[in-house]
Amino acid sequence: MLAQRGVTAALSYAGRTEAPRAQPIPVRVGGFGGVDGLAAYLREARVTHLVDATHPFAATMSANAVAAAQLAGVPLLALTRPAWMPVPGDRWTRVADIEGAVAALAGAPRRILLALGRMHVADFAAMPQHHYVLRFVDAPMAPPPLPDHALIVDRGPFTPEGDRALMEAHRIDLVVCKNAGGRGAEAKLVAARALGIPVLMIDRPALPPRAEVTDPAAVLEWLDHAPAPTERGV
Ligand SMILES: NC(=O)c1ccc[n+]([C@@H]2O[C@H](COP(=O)([O-])OP(=O)(O)OC[C@H]3O[C@@H](n4cnc5c(N)ncnc54)[C@H](OP(=O)(O)O)[C@@H]3O)[C@@H](O)[C@H]2O)c1
Repeated sequence: MLAQRGVTAALSYAGRTEAPRAQPIPVRVGGFGGVDGLAAYLREARVTHLVDATHPFAATMSANAVAAAQLAGVPLLALTRPAWMPVPGDRWTRVADIEGAVAALAGAPRRILLALGRMHVADFAAMPQHHYVLRFVDAPMAPPPLPDHALIVDRGPFTPEGDRALMEAHRIDLVVCKNAGGRGAEAKLVAARALGIPVLMIDRPALPPRAEVTDPAAVLEWLDHAPAPTERGV
């Protein structure tokens, strides 16, 4: 949408995904070096507006963005996806964080769709009695440290029908996931509901107060009307 509008913009990736999709605006990759690094980048690149469109679980980056925007005097807007809410037919148990999810898995062996991405899989080695089905965007460099697992490499988008077939094929009896929100990642919840499978839902981390919108069009609207940066008056 930015490219279509001819807005001068850069997209920043942390660098976790090996071959991200091509983008129609310049892309930079890698951490900024904390709050000070991001504030320096904002100044050096003469950034006039900062949009935090990171995943709702990227809590460090989002907190850094709030602090760096303040330091550099650049207005910040977060583009988020509303959290999923349970609907009739859902069998959710909510936990506060990854640690809570691991603790909730104490007990008899189960067949779990661990829909978390690569970063926190190692934590579940503390519950090695389960069969885990993992779905990653990239094949991992080293095998996941879970003694009994099946690995699927697929970057989606996923469909309820596809996720239902996956859960049936692997005889899944529990889905563990983060409350990411959004339509693409919702397929597993729709499938779990249809199959009556319980879900262990990890709640979002707390973030500092900030302006938020949930619609990309609202970001463009904000770009048209946001206050100018305090430092440069641009
Ligand atoms: N966490 C998830 O579940 C999840 C799921 C899907 C996608 N993602 C995406 O993956 C990226 C990393 O997530 P995370 O949970 O590891 O983040 P995080 O814990 O909040 O951030 C850790 C560090 O990674 C760097 N970083 C994060 N996002 C960046 C970005 N967009 N551009 C440049 N540097 C970035 C920052 O390093 P410096 O301090 O050096 O700047 C940050 O302090 C995020 O962009 C997020 O949107 C995360």
